[in-house]
Amino acid sequence: MKVAVLGAGGLAKVICDALNLEGKHEIAGFFDDAKRGRFLKYPILGRCAQYGELCRKLKIRAIIVAFGYNFLDKRLSYCAKIGRDKKIKSINAIHPSAVISPGAEIGKGVYIGPGVIVNPGAKIGDNSVIWSGAIIEHDNLIGKNVFICPGARTAGYVSLGDNTFVGMGANITKARIGKNVTVGAGSLVLDNVKSDKYVFGVPAKIIRTKKSCSYV
Ligand SMILES: CC(C)(COP(=O)(O)OP(=O)(O)OC[C@H]1O[C@@H](n2cnc3c(N)ncnc32)[C@H](O)[C@@H]1OP(=O)(O)O)[C@@H](O)C(=O)NCCC(=O)NCCS
Repeated sequence: MKVAVLGAGGLAKVICDALNLEGKHEIAGFFDDAKRGRFLKYPILGRCAQYGELCRKLKIRAIIVAFGYNFLDKRLSYCAKIGRDKKIKSINAIHPSAVISPGAEIGKGVYIGPGVIVNPGAKIGDNSVIWSGAIIEHDNLIGKNVFICPGARTAGYVSLGDNTFVGMGANITKARIGKNVTVGAGSLVLDNVKSDKYVFGVPAKIIRTKKSCSYV
């Protein structure tokens, strides 16, 4: 199936790698608001807002959103639009070296990078991004649009609310983390964290509360 990638930055690069290695899809190109010409070896097909019209014209029936956490508002808005679009399918990009239990549930529009482990009973919500080498233990409940950075690890029964960001190499023990939380790189989270907080350190402490729509 022909697929387009929305966004042409670092996340788009690793998504393309996973899609090519999976070998199930043919990458038709990217939609991006800043770049023109080509990205990697594929064409920039148009601006993001043109994706619907151009996908229909070019008979592209699948898409994956590749805006990173720094563009979370844009990501959320396009994920919602694509979710409502009956003519286009939101697909996953899962690197073949990821080990995903048959007992795990993976939503739509999800990227899972090289060497990730997702154990049984874990649920990964739509449009979440799990970067290289992260470990999601059994029975985790990962919300939508959650970003888990390289080498981060969650113990069994952890839950992470929608739009939460877990920094590189962070460890989370059996805890419930709210929505829109940022866990700093290298942190050790031992307790539950309410929504909209920044936490970091070993053990992690709450540093401040986020203003609305303020991400990493
Ligand atoms: C937690 C985080 C969001 C805080 O960012 P911030 O609010 O801009 O914080 P600052 O950079 O201003 O740092 C404030 C202080 O906290 C310290 N600090 C920042 N992040 C820290 C962390 N993760 N662990 C321990 N201390 C940290 C800084 O050294 C600084 O200390 P100082 O006041 O004594 O100089 C950020 O540092 C972080 O860890 N981001 C995640 C990065 C990441 O994993 N990216 C993934 C790329 S794939």
